[in-house]
Amino acid sequence: MSASIKNAFGTAMTDDEYGENWVASSVALDRDNDYAWMASQLGSAHLVLDVGAGAGRGLYQLARNGARVICVEINARLLKEAATYLTLMHIPVSVCDVVEVVSHHQGPPGTVLLVKGDLMDPALDELPAGAFKAVTCWLIGANPTQITKTIGVPIAEHSGATGPVYRQAVQGRCRDLGLKLLCPNGALHFVDRAFMSSWNHKTQLREHEQKVRGAEVGEAFSIGVEEVMFRRSGLGMWASGVQLVPNQRLPSEGITALQSVIARRR
Ligand SMILES: C[S@@+](CC[C@H](N)C(=O)[O-])C[C@H]1O[C@@H](n2cnc3c(N)ncnc32)[C@H](O)[C@@H]1O
Repeated sequence: MSASIKNAFGTAMTDDEYGENWVASSVALDRDNDYAWMASQLGSAHLVLDVGAGAGRGLYQLARNGARVICVEINARLLKEAATYLTLMHIPVSVCDVVEVVSHHQGPPGTVLLVKGDLMDPALDELPAGAFKAVTCWLIGANPTQITKTIGVPIAEHSGATGPVYRQAVQGRCRDLGLKLLCPNGALHFVDRAFMSSWNHKTQLREHEQKVRGAEVGEAFSIGVEEVMFRRSGLGMWASGVQLVPNQRLPSEGITALQSVIARRR
């Protein structure tokens, strides 16, 4: 399929508009079993810190695998959507704020604690050190208002280039939290969109990602090439007006995929 980006940049979506768009994307990704694939990369990780609940579909898969999940979500519309979906799916869910999560950090296995707040909030550094088996950051993105506020540019300058800058900022914060919160061998798990000109390039791309991500996360983590995985997919990526721009240049023709990278805490 042709990998082109629908150009919706520069639109200052409200939280509600962003939320409604992401629900459409997420439903499509779920239909393609993409969330089951993401969760399967982790096995049964017990205590997980997740960023961005979205529509709750990924959290469902984590909880179904037996994880206790603490998920920080900044968007009120999506927080509500995730809570409603998890309840519908019979996953015990509770909601609190960042101050509360620091004291109330674990529920029983298979439960989700949704935290209304910003992952960038320094209070999250007070979560119990070394207690987490995984820090997960799947398909991170945000509405233009949130992106530009966080990276410090005027909304008028929002463009296709600001998405990757925001993603790197949030993923950098995940790495810093992972340094403190992950147990030895704990997983720092990123899932992003990827594009490749041919599926035959995936072996080469796995090695490339291992190097690039390895440099980003630093020496406190190790990345085995067997934990860099691609999944041919991606139609869900085009199901709404929310656009996640990849870090690399888009080929004019090629394959859209999901890319999963696990960096292990040494
Ligand atoms: C593109 S959605 C992906 C959601 C989910 N991880 C998934 O794979 O379906 C990104 C989510 O991250 C949330 N988000 C973005 N930046 C955030 C931040 N700094 N703190 C907390 N949540 C954030 C957004 O509101 C949105 O729910």
